[in-house]
Amino acid sequence: MKIAVVGTGYVGLVSGVCFSEFGFSVICIDNNVSKIEDLKKGVVPIYENELDKLMLKNMNAGRLSFTSDIAEGVRDADIVFIAVGTPSKTDGSADLSYVYGAVDELAPHMNKNAILVIKSTVPVGTTRAVKQFLQDNGFDIEVAFNPEFLREGAAIEDFMRPDRIILGIESKKAEDALKRAYRPLFVLSIPIVFTGLETAELSKYAANAFLAMKITFINEVANLCENCGADVKEVAYAIGLDKRIGEQFLQVGPGYGGSCFPKDTSALNDFSKNFGVSMPLVEETIKSNDARRIKMIQKIMGVCDNDVKNKNISILGVTFKANTDDMRDSPSICIVNHLLKNGAKIKIYDPSFSEQAKKIFKDAEWSNNAYDNCNGADVVVILTDWAEFRAINLADLRRRVKNPLLVDLRSIYTVNEAKASGFVYCSVGRPFIEG
Ligand code: UGA
Repeated sequence: MKIAVVGTGYVGLVSGVCFSEFGFSVICIDNNVSKIEDLKKGVVPIYENELDKLMLKNMNAGRLSFTSDIAEGVRDADIVFIAVGTPSKTDGSADLSYVYGAVDELAPHMNKNAILVIKSTVPVGTTRAVKQFLQDNGFDIEVAFNPEFLREGAAIEDFMRPDRIILGIESKKAEDALKRAYRPLFVLSIPIVFTGLETAELSKYAANAFLAMKITFINEVANLCENCGADVKEVAYAIGLDKRIGEQFLQVGPGYGGSCFPKDTSALNDFSKNFGVSMPLVEETIKSNDARRIKMIQKIMGVCDNDVKNKNISILGVTFKANTDDMRDSPSICIVNHLLKNGAKIKIYDPSFSEQAKKIFKDAEWSNNAYDNCNGADVVVILTDWAEFRAINLADLRRRVKNPLLVDLRSIYTVNEAKASGFVYCSVGRPFIEG
């Protein structure tokens, strides 16, 4: 089977590499010529654990190639996946211009027996509209929808061992082709849900919105904990033991960010109205998550007596979550920029050494490790839950800082650990501890 993947972002590149690992012949296509030239040399443009090794292995095996020529790329493919971006427009709706641009370009060159599969996250009705668009332009191409559930930083694992695969199809031909493509997972007894186009499209948005809502819920519980003397970590553990609730996505923090949850909750909130339905829970989730960033700023400002001018603030982690260098919609942007604007001297250490972050925080100083970053600090702020921040020697850190003030916005440490190390400890959803 020959597979073409249009778009070499997170979803496209990871999917292409993983399909080639299944043994299929895969060609990845992108109109960004320099990116394709880099990929041909084995240079991975994104920060994703193990992706480089898997990519090189399959390139060397002759199963994985790259091109910027869309006509050449799709000509021999049995399945063409579209995995281009669908960013938010200023009104919150999804920008579908990359999807339609790709469809328009590839349609004349596709093999007439091939299947076109949309993997990009698109509002309900888009796949059917693409089908109609192709028909109106004289192309008899079968179209299907297959959402992705890949987390940045764990994308290969999520592709190879997903909880489920959802396939929106309308014909036996599409069902057979996709069954072949996902056979390596089917044989591992991974549930495959064959359904209609609209159901598959909505399943993706509903999954992301539900997870975003779950995070927002526990963050709101954290606010209550701070005022009523409860510990949110213990509440999360206690409720997560109920299988109906589940333990995942109950980690408190500065609110969700990244390229998916903010964009997808906005798009769902927007396109549901086109169907005459409002979704107040989704709308409140978006508002509550936006308010979260302000609350985090108030927390830091509060422990600094509302004056950060000339204070040395050590920031640990700026990416939107651990195991990525991605800064898209990271809570750190709003928080660190506020501190900079108010005259703080910001020093940052992020284990990804994110180039995106360096462009965003031009006025910050950068360190090569967490300990050096804290030398002489008036305040230390943990913003991202990188594994290496979970086992910092707090006693060592205490000796390096000027002021023993730790603001832990991911509540990584226990209150007792912070207390024992002599830090004044301000976390999320737990009592404030004087050193
Ligand atoms: C998310 C989904 O988890 C994937 O299933 C989906 O495929 C992907 O979006 C997408 O639509 O492409 P991702 O954005 O990579 O994946 O990251 P997550 O691990 O879901 O985290 C999202 C945000 O929520 C991060 O800012 C993270 O710090 C925050 N989060 C996550 C919490 O604050 N608490 C938690 O318990 C979990």
